[in-house]
Amino acid sequence: MSTPKNKAAWLHKAGQDLQVNTAPLPEAGQGEIIVKNVAISINPLDVYMAGEGHFVQRWPVVLGCDVAGEVYQVGPGVQRFKKGDRVVGHTVLLTHGREQDGAYALYTAVLENKAALIPENVPFKDAVVIPTALESAVCALNIKEATTIMPGVQKGALGLPSASLEAKPRSIGKTLVVYGGNTAIGFMTTQLARAAGVDVIAIGSKESAQLSKQAGASETIDYKDADFTDKVVQAVKAKGNTFVGIFDAPSNEETYANDLKILEKLNGGHLVCSHPPPSEVPGNVTTGMIFAVDPAADPVWKDFVTPALEKGVIQCLPKPNVVGTGLEAISKAHGQYKAGVKAEKLVVEL
Ligand SMILES: NC(=O)c1ccc[n+]([C@@H]2O[C@H](COP(=O)([O-])OP(=O)(O)OC[C@H]3O[C@@H](n4cnc5c(N)ncnc54)[C@H](OP(=O)(O)O)[C@@H]3O)[C@@H](O)[C@H]2O)c1
Repeated sequence: MSTPKNKAAWLHKAGQDLQVNTAPLPEAGQGEIIVKNVAISINPLDVYMAGEGHFVQRWPVVLGCDVAGEVYQVGPGVQRFKKGDRVVGHTVLLTHGREQDGAYALYTAVLENKAALIPENVPFKDAVVIPTALESAVCALNIKEATTIMPGVQKGALGLPSASLEAKPRSIGKTLVVYGGNTAIGFMTTQLARAAGVDVIAIGSKESAQLSKQAGASETIDYKDADFTDKVVQAVKAKGNTFVGIFDAPSNEETYANDLKILEKLNGGHLVCSHPPPSEVPGNVTTGMIFAVDPAADPVWKDFVTPALEKGVIQCLPKPNVVGTGLEAISKAHGQYKAGVKAEKLVVEL
């Protein structure tokens, strides 16, 4: 059989357009699989890296972190996959930075421990909404030790238990506020928290509230209400659980100001952010950040994702919005992301 040809959407310089061109066919290294991509999804990080060039380790770069497709090649030491398996995976572009780690290609290298089989009834375009969101959610919820990520910034360390595969997990008597419940990472954090028996109050727009409920939030509060921070405080108190803290998915100046209002009225707590946290917080507030390539997610990829999808413990939320077909459609998807997304994941099919 002839060797297939690889292609990728290359970025040669920050701010330039992506250019679709030939790429070397990756070779599976130790503990790696090569995925023949069927669908890839767009993350804010990809759009940011394309525009600013930050975090790019070598040029030209193939961006993208989330793939779903068929295993083309299995590297030495790989136990869980064989050629032809339907898989979803998270690449390690952010930490390894090699061109074969980019999702924006026909073939991509994925570590065995950052991939899972996709059940037959789940389409690739749905599964591909999962990877970055899953890794982020695990970082937000399950990290136990607040080690340093960058000078002055530590990992968020809520130390909550891992999600279980039970359809109706027993309450563990804790409430978490998920700010940005309708972000991709917010939906998955809500789903995993609920699956661990944690009660979730989600902050998000009224229009997308039904989806937050579908993800498992017990209550949704609209951030457009003038007094929404008071409503969050009331809702947390009314639950009568131990308040765990806030996971702030958007993590910007506006949301930080609101987080601190809520935390002040709840006598402090943990604030876990998706970007560097506010530098000045009261003594009763601890802050941390997620860095969504973390070994903490490996057992979740290995033991949880496939059965959780099979049992419906996690759903592929937000729903994919397929922008187009072929690597050429990725530029259009970047443009669409910049124009704004609303409880949807932009996906390109290959
Ligand atoms: N540090 C890391 O490792 C890491 C990893 C992944 C993501 N991130 C960061 O996390 C953030 C979220 O990423 P994502 O992909 O999950 O986002 P996303 O899905 O693109 O977020 C879109 C959603 O944001 C919500 N939103 C916008 N402004 C809001 C506000 N003021 N309050 C509440 N919700 C608001 C909207 O919800 P409504 O429909 O309710 O309006 C919209 O549906 C990004 O900034 C990303 O860069 C960081």
